[in-house]
Amino acid sequence: MRIVVLVSGTGSNLQAVIDAVRAGDLDVELAAVGADRPGTYGVERSAAAGIPTFVVDFKAYPDRAAWNAALTEAVAAFRPDVVVSSGFMRIVSADFIAAFDGKYLNTHPALLPAFPGAHGVRDALAYGIKVTGCTVHWADAGVDTGPIIAQEAVAVEDGDTEETLHERIKTVERRLLVSTLRDLAAAKQ
Ligand code: GAR
Repeated sequence: MRIVVLVSGTGSNLQAVIDAVRAGDLDVELAAVGADRPGTYGVERSAAAGIPTFVVDFKAYPDRAAWNAALTEAVAAFRPDVVVSSGFMRIVSADFIAAFDGKYLNTHPALLPAFPGAHGVRDALAYGIKVTGCTVHWADAGVDTGPIIAQEAVAVEDGDTEETLHERIKTVERRLLVSTLRDLAAAKQ
C-alpha cells in the first residue's frame, strides 16, 4: 500500500508512521511527504529519513483553485493508495477529493463531529468537556468531516493546558493512525 502523507507542521504523527515502517510493524510504502508551505519540520524529518518530499506552497498560487490543482497533480504523481492528512491544515477542493476518492484519510485531535477545525483541543478545553480524544476518518471536502474509521477517548485532567492535553491526545493519535494504516494495508492484500 503506497501512502502519501501531507503535513503543515511538526509531523510527529508522521514520525510515528516512519518509525513503525522502519521497525517492521507497518507494511506500507511511504511514497512521499508533501507540505503546503516551505520549511516544515515534517518535510525536513522525511527528507532526513530518505523519503521523497514535495512542497506545494499555498502562497505561491494566485488562488485556491490553482493551488488545489497543483496539489492534486503533485500527490497523483506518486500514485498513492492512501493519502494521509496528518496535521495538514488546509481544506482541499472537491476536485482533490474526487481524484483520491475513498483514499483521503485525516486525523483530528477531538472526538468528531465535536470540535472540528484548527483548534480542536483548545475549543474542547474552553467548552469544559471532561472527555475528548482523537479521530481517524475518511475525509471529504468539509472541515474534519467524513466517515469515521476509528476513535479513542482521552480524559481531560485538572490543570490541563492546550499543550498538555494535546500531547496526551497525540500519544493515542499516533497509535491509532498506525493501527488504522495497518488494518487498511492488511485489507488490501
Ligand atoms: C495532530 O494532532 C492532528 O490531529 C492535528 O494537528 C496535529 C498535528 O501534529 N490536525 C488537526 O487539527 C486537523 N484539523 P503533528 O504535526 O505533530 O503530527
